[in-house]
Amino acid sequence: MESWEIVGGARLVGEVRLTGAKNSVLKLMAAALLAPGRTVLTEVPDILDVDIMGQLLTRLGAQVVHDRPAGAVAIDVPDQLDHRADYDLVRRMRASISVLGPLLARCGEADIALPGGDNIGSRGLDMHIAGLERMGAQVSVQHGYLQAVARQLRGSTIWLDFPSVGATESLLMAAVTAEGRTVIDNAAREPEIVDIANMMVQMGAQISGIGTSTLTVEGVDVLQPVHHVTVSDRIVAGTWAVAAAITQGEITVINAFAEHLEIALDKLATAGAHVDVHADSFTVSMDTRPKSVDIVTLPYPGFPTDLQPQFIALNAISLGASLVTENLFEARFRFVHELARLGADVQTEGHHALVRGQPGLSGAPVEATDIRAGAGLVLAGLVADGVTTIHEVHHIDRGYAGMVEDLQRLGATIERIRHSD
Ligand code: UD1
Repeated sequence: MESWEIVGGARLVGEVRLTGAKNSVLKLMAAALLAPGRTVLTEVPDILDVDIMGQLLTRLGAQVVHDRPAGAVAIDVPDQLDHRADYDLVRRMRASISVLGPLLARCGEADIALPGGDNIGSRGLDMHIAGLERMGAQVSVQHGYLQAVARQLRGSTIWLDFPSVGATESLLMAAVTAEGRTVIDNAAREPEIVDIANMMVQMGAQISGIGTSTLTVEGVDVLQPVHHVTVSDRIVAGTWAVAAAITQGEITVINAFAEHLEIALDKLATAGAHVDVHADSFTVSMDTRPKSVDIVTLPYPGFPTDLQPQFIALNAISLGASLVTENLFEARFRFVHELARLGADVQTEGHHALVRGQPGLSGAPVEATDIRAGAGLVLAGLVADGVTTIHEVHHIDRGYAGMVEDLQRLGATIERIRHSD
């Protein structure tokens, strides 16, 4: 058990280097199952979810070695895989569902416990299931397990109701070795989808339209294992950008692609920040109190829902009022009750939040309810007067490797407090 104690008021200045995106690497690990042999992933973040996915792959018959200092994971995939993903692992991480497509492709069947994960809304699987059914799978839910069977997946045209990240990835991984052509229309276009598609192309898959909302896949018989560098984490990059703005500091984020964050950086510029973009880094600096900015979350390239809590924290201390609209996860506003403990004025109604900027916040004990809510609370704690203690930080550790140490290097007063209970 650990909590973080922050004394607010420091201006954050310096450089921070990103590693690969959590939301990419977990899917890349699942995609490794598609090819017998050794896949090696680099720029792997040192986060718990990588270990949970490693345990899941091990349970399925792979051998997984995570070299933390090198930031690399080697996955040895056998010719025969087990096809059952148990509840004890799946319940800890929703991304476990990513093994569904590869298992169906490799084994012709998959039994996956219905996932748990972040507490941010209902997060259905209907689009994953409907798409796999169109490809010839028979899917049922029994005793808490999703059971899918398809001796041979067949290519098909699938129109997604919504550009779901998870459904696009599941269908893409199922389609690469299916018989014939699959078209996924209204596909998600997130950089993490581009990353997994690129890796599968390296493995021998035939995918066109990568980065667009129509993905066309010509099924191939076999894929080869590869070495692949994980795309850098745009959400962690965006969190550091907000950290610079909220503390009126100056942070250079290295190994970051500003083009993956265009709207968010533009919002920071509207709030009054200076944003300098370089080839593989950017710098955000701020020398005045920020101005409030309205936010509407949307699938990529819209404003990312995973940066919404961080921007609510920024708006909470900005000049003026702002309207934040959350279109992806209905429960994401739960964290505003915690932010209110620091003195933020946020009123929610359905999927809108009205944030009235305050001249300051005051430190208090708060609880992280999910990864990004936790990041929002850290940012608020950095500017709150006095001590903010953040509980349930294991959520934050799931998405931000070594965040406390990075904050300390940038000049924040923050400490990990270990409890025995
Ligand atoms: C992924 C990211 C998450 C991010 C989200 C949106 C991972 C591990 N997580 O989550 O951090 O916030 O993308 O960018 O990569 N939905 C359905 N039926 C489905 C699939 C989705 O109703 O079959 C709904 C969900 O309940 C949610 C919305 O669609 O309201 C978006 O979900 P999706 O894009 O699939 O997000 P995830 O893949 O779960």
